[in-house]
Amino acid sequence: EKNGYPHFMLKEIFEQPLVVRRILSTVNKNRDELQIEDIKSIDISWEKIKKVFIVACGTSYHAGYYAKFLWEEELPYFIEVELASQMHHRNLRVPDETLFITISQSGETADVISTLRKVKEKGFKVLSLVNNPQSTVARESDYFINLRAGIEIGVAATKTFMAELVYLGLLKEYVKNKLYKVKIDLDKWNMLPTYLENYLSNIKDQVFETAKKYYQKKNFLYLARGRNFPLALEGALKLKEISYIHAEGIPAGEMKHGPIALLDPETPVFGIAYKDDAYSKMINNLEEAKARRAPIIAIGNEKDKKLENLVDDLIPVPNIDPFYYPYMGVMVLQLFAYYVADLLGREIDQPRNLAKSVTVE
Ligand code: M6R
Repeated sequence: EKNGYPHFMLKEIFEQPLVVRRILSTVNKNRDELQIEDIKSIDISWEKIKKVFIVACGTSYHAGYYAKFLWEEELPYFIEVELASQMHHRNLRVPDETLFITISQSGETADVISTLRKVKEKGFKVLSLVNNPQSTVARESDYFINLRAGIEIGVAATKTFMAELVYLGLLKEYVKNKLYKVKIDLDKWNMLPTYLENYLSNIKDQVFETAKKYYQKKNFLYLARGRNFPLALEGALKLKEISYIHAEGIPAGEMKHGPIALLDPETPVFGIAYKDDAYSKMINNLEEAKARRAPIIAIGNEKDKKLENLVDDLIPVPNIDPFYYPYMGVMVLQLFAYYVADLLGREIDQPRNLAKSVTVE
């Protein structure tokens, strides 16, 4: 049940620290070898793989897209991410040593199932991350990781997205450990649930106040760069599916190639501008938006004076290890969408025209 929350979605947003804690309880170190319960039985020869091909839909696709950036930083593979629905129209030209990864909350998404079957028929191995061990995707994959998020009832995926991000991050650590024998700092991971818990309770009121300022706007542009871009896509998807407001995620560097024409004082920009390698370019992009008098909301670092002066509303992450920022930022994006939809009196847990799992192609 809803445990006193007005909607399942809000309950599921607040469950995220618990989900992360549950996942981390399956992770151990034996001397310097990283062990993850679901991964230990996976007999993939990671050193032989040349390419990793990630396939998913919707929110799960965003998790895969994020993982591409994360994995590419440290693993030696060429990584491709594709929407499962697009796979029908692709002629697969990949090396024999390609590992396919499918990601699916339900494990019943029709396009994911058909991709899985198609690539298996061609002799490729498939590793899947799924929240339902009994599902078709889980049963038919060669290897399977249980996301352990618990049943998700809200149509908008929240805690399963978090579980996907965390498992994909841990899997990267696992492969790095296997390939290069480098030590993995588990303490950093083990702090994550507590940081998320504290962050949620510290930030929720501010996110609500921000939602109150903007909920009557008709269009939002979510801007980010690099690995934050898939998270901007996710923020926009959350907003559109539950509030019915038009929202787009745009790589900030693409603004000048067209979308900047959309900006005016009625079109809020939601930027992700942490102090990371994309920071200075993001600041330039937000300055361009400001010059067009677009209202700007940003997730960025606490006490970042430059950003504070530039934007209308700064939703800060604490100045801790940047490792934590994406996980925190995701919760801000989810909460913002939730509060906007709630202020508009939307159905939230069962938005119009949408089903929890998409079983037709
Ligand atoms: O069950 P799946 O992860 O395969 O579902 C994929 C999408 O249908 C799903 O993420 C959808 O986009 C959600 N409604 C997003 O909140």
